Amino acid sequence: MDRFQIHGGRKLNGSVQISGAKNAALPAMAAALLTADPVVLQNIPRVRDIITMAKLLAHMRCRVESPDLPPSQFIIQAQNVSMHEAPYELVKTMRASILTLGPLVARFGHARVSLPGGCAIGARPVDLHIQALEALGAETKVEHGYVEARAKRLRGATFRFPKITVTGTENILTAAVLADGETILENAAMEPEVTDLAEMLIKMGAKIEGVGTSTLKIQGVKSLHGATHAIIPDRIEAGTFLVAGAITGGELLLTNSEPKHLGAVIETLRACGVEIKCEGNGNMRVRAAKKLVAHDVTTEEYPGFATDMQAQFMALATQAEGASKVRETIFENRYMHASEMMRMGANIEIDGNLAIVKGPTPLSGAPVTASDLRASAGLVLAALVADNTTIIDRVYHIDRGYERIEDKLVAVGADIQRLTSYDDQ
Ligand code: UD1
Repeated sequence: MDRFQIHGGRKLNGSVQISGAKNAALPAMAAALLTADPVVLQNIPRVRDIITMAKLLAHMRCRVESPDLPPSQFIIQAQNVSMHEAPYELVKTMRASILTLGPLVARFGHARVSLPGGCAIGARPVDLHIQALEALGAETKVEHGYVEARAKRLRGATFRFPKITVTGTENILTAAVLADGETILENAAMEPEVTDLAEMLIKMGAKIEGVGTSTLKIQGVKSLHGATHAIIPDRIEAGTFLVAGAITGGELLLTNSEPKHLGAVIETLRACGVEIKCEGNGNMRVRAAKKLVAHDVTTEEYPGFATDMQAQFMALATQAEGASKVRETIFENRYMHASEMMRMGANIEIDGNLAIVKGPTPLSGAPVTASDLRASAGLVLAALVADNTTIIDRVYHIDRGYERIEDKLVAVGADIQRLTSYDDQ
């Protein structure tokens, strides 16, 4: 298993190009199942979850091609799909495989997708995806670790999500576009990734109103056609580099980003004393604060502060003066990085979903283990300001969602190296 070796304390200077959003690319790829025509997706991030989704679509007999390697563009054609199943072997490495459920049942009348099961950041059920599909007339059964859905043709309905779910909204949106009649989704997620998906579906001929709001009104159509769509920039990668610039000193220019999607993060960092300039054309400049000050953060659905930025914020809070209260409201058990940061010298108290981070504390390099994707990013940031050497184990988590993070960091002056172990190969 690969590890990162990081020598902290280097000032970061230079520019970082932000990649396409993994969490927008995954539903867009699954949505290619909705038509027999080719769908061209651009600005695809070169990360492992994308490769997993490409494998899953290929397993279903989609044509998945890319003009470059590793791919930054995909041509996906679901013309000869003969397999309507997402097997456990692929789903277990990536929960987002559940996104194939809606498109498969909508177009082919049948889908069988392995249940993702638990994961490091909490139980993360898919009960709402299933409930919503049932509301659209699908018959579902959960058996042998798989969810199976059938419907000759889905029919439009009004469904109110009892809790906001991002992939749940995406799954049902990609089912409703081919349903018979009108579907109204209430309390839908408003994340930019949902909006990006809706915009791509509209290019494919879908009829959707209320895009960007919590009520989506969809008039089902008989069929969809191909389209070309460029994926939005990754707001979480951009946020991670904003924190990297803020805590390490120096100045970073982020290019190809979308500051509009980062409102709560930019506001929070500015409240901590960080200087951030949005310069137009997707450029954002971040300059380290002379002095970082504590600030409280509560994770919320969009447009609130993203749970996917919580671990990175915690790394920053260890360097800020005062006590920062961090409240995690989206996922239980999402403080695994905190105990690793404490091993590096951070002063963090956890009480249920509340973490109190007292700073500033000097961090010292230590061997630590990454527990999930965003936790790994938090640990990389902590290691960048720690003295001496930090070794981060299990960086396969970070490879799931960050494109060449070590190369991007080295290019702006960080001392980070990937150690490849051949022990288990
Ligand atoms: C997506 C993102 C993930 C992000 C999360 C919250 C992708 C691929 N992943 O995950 O990076 O951290 O949104 O912004 O886009 N829930 C249920 N029943 C369900 C579905 C969800 O109870 O059927 C609960 C979850 O356990 C959680 C909350 O709803 O407590 C929000 O989860 P959800 O928005 O569904 O997260 P994901 O879509 O899995």
